Amino acid sequence: MLKRRAQAALKGSGLLKTLILYASKYGTTRKLAKRIAKGFDDATVCNLKDGDIPPVSGFDCVIIGSPVYGGSIQKEAKDFILQTKTALYEKEFGLFLSGTNADDEDKYFQENFPAGVLRAAKATAFLGGIFDASQTGRLTRFIVKRAKQPLYSNTIDFERIKQFIEDMVERYES
Ligand SMILES: Cc1cc2nc3c(=O)[nH]c(=O)nc-3n(C[C@H](O)[C@H](O)[C@H](O)COP(=O)(O)O)c2cc1C
Repeated sequence: MLKRRAQAALKGSGLLKTLILYASKYGTTRKLAKRIAKGFDDATVCNLKDGDIPPVSGFDCVIIGSPVYGGSIQKEAKDFILQTKTALYEKEFGLFLSGTNADDEDKYFQENFPAGVLRAAKATAFLGGIFDASQTGRLTRFIVKRAKQPLYSNTIDFERIKQFIEDMVERYES
């Protein structure tokens, strides 16, 4: 449905070539990136940790996503944004974060991205995440158990994902 809307919106404005870049430790942010890609007709999804990223100049739209660990985004995402921000400013670009603590979403954006990048971004979104203690080390499991926190939680916000895609294609709809 969304794809059809985006498609209809793109009539006359050419195909929206989209590059979706992500960093991920346990795979949730990769899943989110692939889910977002379904909202676009021509999306290329790349792992920032693999290197070999196509130049952003070849795309109309660039989306970058990272999980949050201890309040910080992944270094690969941070480095990529700092290195390419001048080129990004010439694109429609969006940022998304994956994490299980939605209460601090504003803080995560403010503390992990330069103010200029946040101002220039077309959309930013905290999409929730999956915490699975079985994927973590013994120390993390110990801390989580001691804090009486659940060993598994899934807070992925599908409505927010949809909204994020809509925000990214918005200009093409008007
Ligand atoms: C050790 C550890 C620290 C975490 N710290 C945060 C945090 O500070 N804020 C948050 O919202 N989520 C935090 N999370 C949850 C992860 O961000 C969430 O599980 C995310 O979906 C993982 O994405 P990934 O599988 O792509 O690495 C933490 C998870 C672990 C295991």
